[in-house]
Amino acid sequence: MTRRSIGIIVNGVTGRMGYRQHLVRSLLAIREAGGVPLADGTTVWPHLVLVGRSETKLCEIAERHGLDDWSTDLTAALARDDVQIYFDAQVTQQREKAIRQAIEAGKHIYTEKPLAEDTAAALDLARAARAAGVRTGVVQDKLFLPGLRKLKRLLDGGFFGQVLSVRGEFGYWVFEGDWQPAQRPSWNYRAEDGGGIVVDMFPHWHYVLAELFGEVRTVSATIATHVPRRVDETGRPYQATADDAAYAVFELDGGVIAQLNSSWCVRVFRDELVEFQVDGTEGSAVAGLRRCRVQHRAVTPKPVWNPDLPVTENFRSQWTEVPDNEDFDNGFKVQWEAFLRHVATGEPFPWDFLAGARGVQLAELGLVSAREGRRVEVPELAL
Ligand SMILES: NC(=O)c1ccc[n+]([C@@H]2O[C@H](COP(=O)([O-])OP(=O)(O)OC[C@H]3O[C@@H](n4cnc5c(N)ncnc54)[C@H](O)[C@@H]3O)[C@@H](O)[C@H]2O)c1
Repeated sequence: MTRRSIGIIVNGVTGRMGYRQHLVRSLLAIREAGGVPLADGTTVWPHLVLVGRSETKLCEIAERHGLDDWSTDLTAALARDDVQIYFDAQVTQQREKAIRQAIEAGKHIYTEKPLAEDTAAALDLARAARAAGVRTGVVQDKLFLPGLRKLKRLLDGGFFGQVLSVRGEFGYWVFEGDWQPAQRPSWNYRAEDGGGIVVDMFPHWHYVLAELFGEVRTVSATIATHVPRRVDETGRPYQATADDAAYAVFELDGGVIAQLNSSWCVRVFRDELVEFQVDGTEGSAVAGLRRCRVQHRAVTPKPVWNPDLPVTENFRSQWTEVPDNEDFDNGFKVQWEAFLRHVATGEPFPWDFLAGARGVQLAELGLVSAREGRRVEVPELAL
């Protein structure tokens, strides 16, 4: 089988996402599987160039995984002819500058979300990439979660009849960092460093809502910084200046109303860290990361409100599990494979910089809504 090597700069590989989801679970897993097979019988083989700021850390990761190509010099790496793709999983604030450099170097670009810190910058990157003729992609991993794939299957099969509403709960308790170390990097809690749950989660909510239920037309959000003081990775206390919870209502094309809570200050009494309940005229579903349960109208119980009596029914037991019916691979890997095929063959890839800009726009307008205490229209974005 003919193997085509494709050089990929992996920038931010020492980070949480860069290392675990993109290097180990996606790119190395693709190499272990022999590459990405194409329709013409050839295979795309990712050649990885690890890029970062710390020589020691890069060298350690490279050795751990039997890799030998790494550099602390992004400009030099971008100048290489054997590199075709630039990938960015750096902290958000460093992204725009690096992506601009990559566009100027004529590389195709795949990046973590959010694409940029504001809509104007995100659109500008999308336009610059189009003018340069490079292919682009933004991570939209939640679409590939087994739970959401099952939900999509239900929607495609017409299970819900008319979808009325979506209620989502995302979150878990992120430790303050004092008596137990925090499980997320401290920059997430400082607005001046690009943190905040709105900029982190609304880009995800945009593509989940738009792809499954309809384009987002308005947003109304209330945000909070519930935990104002946290302790960083070095043990130093700091002021949390970014929002750590967002309570939002979105109106979608077609009239669906979506209500999504996102919080790093909530203790989990759910089955999964994110769950969406979808109610439709014909049936309802509750989808999480992996599971999805349904209740059809024909088997819907008829509760009667009477606080004088104890609950007589076990409501949770009345739902039916949607079967897997297929093998679900890691979502980040599946999207990487699609992007590599897009670069190699021009196969369509809908999750480009314009799609990424729409996610940035929703976060920006969510913050406007919270600041001004009003519902905000979300205008159509175009290049
Ligand atoms: N798709 C998802 O579900 C998801 C989840 C979490 C984070 N993210 C995104 O991934 C990106 C990285 O997040 P993370 O949680 O891996 O962060 P992290 O702090 O663990 O990693 C950040 C990376 O950026 C590098 N970096 C480059 N310049 C830096 C600078 N000046 N200061 C600090 N670090 C710098 C770090 O060395 C590290 O490799 C963010 O843009 C975030 O929005 C996506």
